[in-house]
Amino acid sequence: MNIKAIRGMQDLLPDQKEIYRYIEDVLRRVLSAYGYREIGLPVIESTQLFSRLVGEATDIVEKEMYTFDDRNGDSITLRPEGTAGCVRAAQENGLLFNQVQRLWYAGPMFRYERPQKGRYRQFEQIGAECFGMPGPDVDVELLLMTHRMWKTLGIAEHLTLELNSMGSLSARQRYTRSLVEYLEARKEDLDKDSQRRITSNPLRILDSKDEGTRDVLKEAPLITDYLDDESRQQFDQICGLLDQAQLAYRINPFIVRGLDYYNKTVFEWTTQSLGAQGTVCAGGRYDGLVEEVGGKPTPAVGFALGMDRLALMLGEKFEFQASADVYIASLGDGARRHALLLAEELRDSCPARTVIAHCGEGKFKSQMKKADQSGALMAIIIGEDEVERGEVSIKHLREGGDQISMDAVKVKEYVRKMLTKE
Ligand code: HAM
Repeated sequence: MNIKAIRGMQDLLPDQKEIYRYIEDVLRRVLSAYGYREIGLPVIESTQLFSRLVGEATDIVEKEMYTFDDRNGDSITLRPEGTAGCVRAAQENGLLFNQVQRLWYAGPMFRYERPQKGRYRQFEQIGAECFGMPGPDVDVELLLMTHRMWKTLGIAEHLTLELNSMGSLSARQRYTRSLVEYLEARKEDLDKDSQRRITSNPLRILDSKDEGTRDVLKEAPLITDYLDDESRQQFDQICGLLDQAQLAYRINPFIVRGLDYYNKTVFEWTTQSLGAQGTVCAGGRYDGLVEEVGGKPTPAVGFALGMDRLALMLGEKFEFQASADVYIASLGDGARRHALLLAEELRDSCPARTVIAHCGEGKFKSQMKKADQSGALMAIIIGEDEVERGEVSIKHLREGGDQISMDAVKVKEYVRKMLTKE
């Protein structure tokens, strides 16, 4: 039997996983610098949560969710995104009553999309959600935080911030009516998907990649012309603050996002360097969502970034660090026993260091090759003769120089000194 991974699911091999870990470590520090605290959320939620909060007519809910009945017959769904669960958890656990919360989460999300480079059916997001502040200051803070993330990762010059306002619910409804009217009159020039969406989800047509549809959209009404006064004012303030902070952005009235919960600010960070899947981070304001789960009106804003896409961007310039510090080579049963015990003692005295003891057979020559490949700074060599004499040999692998012999009792202290000198 040749059992393979399920389509769209990736194995992250150690070289890849190292990049993910690095990105998460960097981002964790940035999030903490802005006062965000991590929250752990379930991977499975009730199906209703997503259909209500993300929206019945969205692509995600219509055709991309992993939904099934559990053994009790309840409909459950592998989370396609993190905001709905975070809102539910914050409300359910009383985190939102008269207080501001800055929360972040990381983990896998699941969407039954067509897999390609940068788009998977299981993918990793880091998301941040801020509850209790109406903006515009916190919206700008969030954008500055994402920008700091790119700077810290060294990829800021490859990313562009695209910004829009979706206005209030009523402004959006007025805009949608005009858009539908405009598109109905030109229906035959639209692609099949967009024709269908005129009735189901007209705003998504703005995202269409079809050339004919894009031509029709050139003259279409723009949401910017339909904003209510409050949203327009807030959008202007956000742009002003970004100018002051010297964070460059591009206003893109076609950004309306694929999830139904947004109002006012929406944004995407995009790159040219990933081909078709160029959005690495996206988010916006969603002031009505807490009420959807039974809470009091609570302003909220957040974003999620795609770890897999960031890892693809970083992959090319990432230098893999082989991780060992000490490699113990040994030949013969007695020597191997010594090596095993010495490795344990070194791990006790230098807990932050990596000690690899060669296991199994193998000539010294091939063991020393493995020691070199492991990235270790030094090799400890133990043969049967050395065991008899109560000695070990040490070779510094990165500095050259001869092998030195040493009393087996003193080696632990010697290694500790060498490693802490580093
Ligand atoms: P989203 O735009 O659906 O928003 O996803 C956010 C990011 O996740 C995308 O920009 C992309 O980088 C990554 N992503 C999405 N789908 C895939 C996929 N199939 N494969 C790889 N990466 C993917 C949300 O999920 C909202 N919850 C964001 C948010 C938080 N809004 C407010 N708060």
